[in-house]
Amino acid sequence: MLENIINRVSCGRLTAPEPSAEQLELLFQAALRAPDHKGIKPWQYIVFSGEEQLNQLADLYLQASLLVEPDLEESKRVRILSLPHRAPMVIVAVAKSRNHEKVPHIEEVLSAGAGVQNLLLGAYDLGYGAYWRSGPLCFNPHLKTLLGLEQEDTMVGFIYLGTPSIALKAKPVPEVKDFVRFGLD
Ligand SMILES: Cc1cc2nc3c(=O)[nH]c(=O)nc-3n(C[C@H](O)[C@H](O)[C@H](O)COP(=O)(O)O)c2cc1C
Repeated sequence: MLENIINRVSCGRLTAPEPSAEQLELLFQAALRAPDHKGIKPWQYIVFSGEEQLNQLADLYLQASLLVEPDLEESKRVRILSLPHRAPMVIVAVAKSRNHEKVPHIEEVLSAGAGVQNLLLGAYDLGYGAYWRSGPLCFNPHLKTLLGLEQEDTMVGFIYLGTPSIALKAKPVPEVKDFVRFGLD
């Protein structure tokens, strides 16, 4: 368990199959156990899988990009349309704004981030590959509207999921002493 947390790596080269419906249910159960101040459940996950849904997401990406930059050149349009097709499944992870008087939005974002990490760890544990991405679309207000979100919500990332098409390589673990201080010494 702890070993899998330490050894988890991201994988951007993803192919079919994606997690089954049963596995996805477990992955989301893990995500939905993220720490959550005041129990407000500030999360939403929007899943796109299969050609049709990935094309729909690509369309929204393009529409949102054109609303920011109407003269977007052709090569950039083609690239944007290709983005969701880097994996068989893309999940838009959202921190919902619950406007709780004791919970600032930063805590909702942190909670959603913890949920995403649970999802990544679960995917790794089940033998799938995953990659957490952001980029300009993550901060595009028009994409929020097109996805049915509120402007006060935060898209915390696009999670690409599938089967690694390359061997996963362990990464060096940073030196604990470089990041941790004990007391005031
Ligand atoms: C909020 C967030 C957004 C990220 N966005 C991107 C991204 O857009 N593109 C990218 O290549 N990596 C992005 N990353 C980093 C990768 O998900 C990954 O963590 C990084 O490549 C290191 O790989 P590792 O997880 O195997 O250590 C992001 C990470 C986080 C936490």
